[in-house]
Amino acid sequence: MMQVWQLKKGFEQKLRQGHPWVFSHEIATAIKNFRGHEVVELQDHQGNFLARGYGNLKSKIIFRAMTFSAGEKNPFSMEALQAKLLAAWKKRHELKFTASFRLCFSEGDGIPGLIIDRYLVEGSSGDHQVFAVQILTAGLQRHLTDILTLLQRTCESAYQEKLSNILWDRTSVVLRNDVAIRKLEGLEVELPRFLKVVSGYEADQSWIKINHAVLPEMISMNCDLYQGQKTGFFLDQWSNIKSVAEKLETSLEGKKEFKLLDLCSYVGHWSVQLGTLCKSKNICFHSTLVDVSKEALGRAKKNMEKAHLNFEIQTRDVLKGLDVLPGQSFDLVIADPPAFVKAKKDLPTGKHAYQKLNTQAFRLVKPGGHVISCSCSGLITESDLKEAIEKAKRKNSLVANLVVSGAPALDHPLIPGFSEGSYLKMLLHHVDGVAGA
Ligand SMILES: C[S@@+](CC[C@H](N)C(=O)[O-])C[C@H]1O[C@@H](n2cnc3c(N)ncnc32)[C@H](O)[C@@H]1O
Repeated sequence: MMQVWQLKKGFEQKLRQGHPWVFSHEIATAIKNFRGHEVVELQDHQGNFLARGYGNLKSKIIFRAMTFSAGEKNPFSMEALQAKLLAAWKKRHELKFTASFRLCFSEGDGIPGLIIDRYLVEGSSGDHQVFAVQILTAGLQRHLTDILTLLQRTCESAYQEKLSNILWDRTSVVLRNDVAIRKLEGLEVELPRFLKVVSGYEADQSWIKINHAVLPEMISMNCDLYQGQKTGFFLDQWSNIKSVAEKLETSLEGKKEFKLLDLCSYVGHWSVQLGTLCKSKNICFHSTLVDVSKEALGRAKKNMEKAHLNFEIQTRDVLKGLDVLPGQSFDLVIADPPAFVKAKKDLPTGKHAYQKLNTQAFRLVKPGGHVISCSCSGLITESDLKEAIEKAKRKNSLVANLVVSGAPALDHPLIPGFSEGSYLKMLLHHVDGVAGA
């Protein structure tokens, strides 16, 4: 069954450029008898084909495009979905993601509402894989009736194509629909649950393998794929870690020691990646990992120990508890906080929080050192973050130059012009000296 919806005049251009969303006020059709299960064909005001996808009358985003190809009649068929996931896996493989990575990034991979993280997990009897799945929209939930068969077929095709050496019998699937964003779609926030589990696998003690950002080796990270934040790990910083590591490599030459302050460290991904790099160069590395979550820091401790790195952990609120740390102490300060802005009404307090955190970061960095400032709030633009950093620099009377900027990792593909997908911003500044000196 198919419904045809027409756009009001003037709203077709962004669709023609690949933007996959339509808001309710952009539709001209008086929608009748729509139950949510139908494929929706979107047309411009003159009846020309624009896209096919799904609708949700309960959401402000009334339509999401699955295909812009008029020939693709059923973008929800098992074959069409499987082809998209296999293409996504091939893309990751070409980008050298061979261990744990985001396999499906919703709109970025042509399946709006579907997140699949693929984790390569160490086990006593060899590696296995876990697919952590999130279904974020009501339309996708209705159309995606057999996720297990889809994953099994994808897993088997990936094996045949030599993208992976893990078969379905070594695969667990955990459904992580414990995300508040589902409420915007009229969906319930569910408890995590296994759809399939390899015997003996304990998800809360997963040791996942991650490609090192610049070295050929893998690193191991302990995390909880059942209840941990996101789907258990923040895969989205990988390419930023890579660009920062490549940038710092020259300044590391000849250094004897390197002191890192990892603010909002979670389980210590940045610290393990950069610490392993320093160790490969015989640099004496020390990281101070700070987070408000004791649970995350307990795992960070395990991860730093497993990588044989020097560290201390501090349970602190980064918005209140950083005054006790002595100024100008660290070669690199990372500020990677949670999304301080989740809704438009949070903008003033959220902007203030970014400024406050960055003011501390610039106070704590050594002259000649670097500061990484991140924001994963979709509503905070790169220029908002830059403004917060400018104020932070002024408060510390510092001159600092932007040397690298970054976005979500390359296994989170972005659609040009679809700014909603580009939620993560990362800015690396080099502190040149004191203003006016
Ligand atoms: C975006 S995640 C950090 C991801 C991490 N840097 C990584 O790359 O894996 C934000 C982290 O901030 C922590 N957090 C949230 N509010 C905080 C606060 N007020 N003070 C310190 N940490 C906080 C969360 O527990 C979470 O670990």
